[in-house]
Amino acid sequence: MASVKRIGVVGGGAMGSGIAQVVAMHGIDVWLYDLNPQALSSASNSVSASINRLVSKAQLSHAEGADALKRMRFTSNLDEFREADFIIEAIVESEDIKKKLFVELDKLAKSSAILASNTSSISITRLATSTSRPHQVIGMHFMNPPPVMKLIEIVRGADTSDETFAATKALSERLSKTVITSQDYSGFIVNRILLPMINEAFFALYTGVATKEDIDTGMKLGTNHPMGPLELADFIGLDVCLSILKVLHAGLGDNRYAACPLLVQYVDAGRLGRKRGIGVYDYRKEPKSMKS
Ligand code: NAI
Repeated sequence: MASVKRIGVVGGGAMGSGIAQVVAMHGIDVWLYDLNPQALSSASNSVSASINRLVSKAQLSHAEGADALKRMRFTSNLDEFREADFIIEAIVESEDIKKKLFVELDKLAKSSAILASNTSSISITRLATSTSRPHQVIGMHFMNPPPVMKLIEIVRGADTSDETFAATKALSERLSKTVITSQDYSGFIVNRILLPMINEAFFALYTGVATKEDIDTGMKLGTNHPMGPLELADFIGLDVCLSILKVLHAGLGDNRYAACPLLVQYVDAGRLGRKRGIGVYDYRKEPKSMKS
């Protein structure tokens, strides 16, 4: 495939806005689409703030920052994606909703365009079946937050072609990321290993083994993790963690992936983590200096 010149990112939440920022900072024009105008305006604010921070820390020159912002278009009109060479989907983690979007993208995207999903856990093979181009559908799993994390996990669906894989790998490297490749089995590599650890941390809290602080400190200082598992769950989003565990449980058919009742209860209560101001921890009480 010819070099990618224009990318469309669907979903302007934590991941989609960060992915669009990374793309723009690497000199590629990008549209960011979300059906919720409020999400688009938050995305625009958070990308500007992030780029300004990088400029103030001299990690980006003024000219590079201005160029990145100029390359980004925030839109609520998916039709603009007709011109995109490569589309990255980063909407809510629901197979039904993603499939509906892939049907729509397949209809409007040019025939050479690759359709990538940033899904944490949903089968790329099944998403691909909702399109007429399963060989051009692939998983491109960025880590959170995309501008900071160096990894992209590329997931090959059953029908993903070698050309699609090569183009996605080349694009990932152009974005200065390191690539790992996973076959299309539930949770891929990173989440298959990470989520059982997070779930176990919830079980430790649920069964009264220790306080949340001691569980996190134990894993930070005992195993050299930069964040404890409960802190990390709040950062990822407890709803996202729960939906990945459901996919692991259903796909791998093993009860060790069954979500801890405490995690389920927090999600039911709307305690979704940092994005809601409360999850395992209550961020609303934090002094401003502790907030990232
Ligand atoms: P989020 O909840 O922050 O953002 C999702 C966005 O998608 C929202 O702005 C929503 O308005 C929009 N949206 C929902 N349905 C849509 C549709 N049909 N068309 C257009 N926009 C739509 O979610 P987040 O955390 O950004 O996750 C997005 C995807 O990235 C999910 O598949 C998730 O599993 C994956 N992911 C999440 C990571 C994390 O740490 N949060 C890490 C890596 C991947």
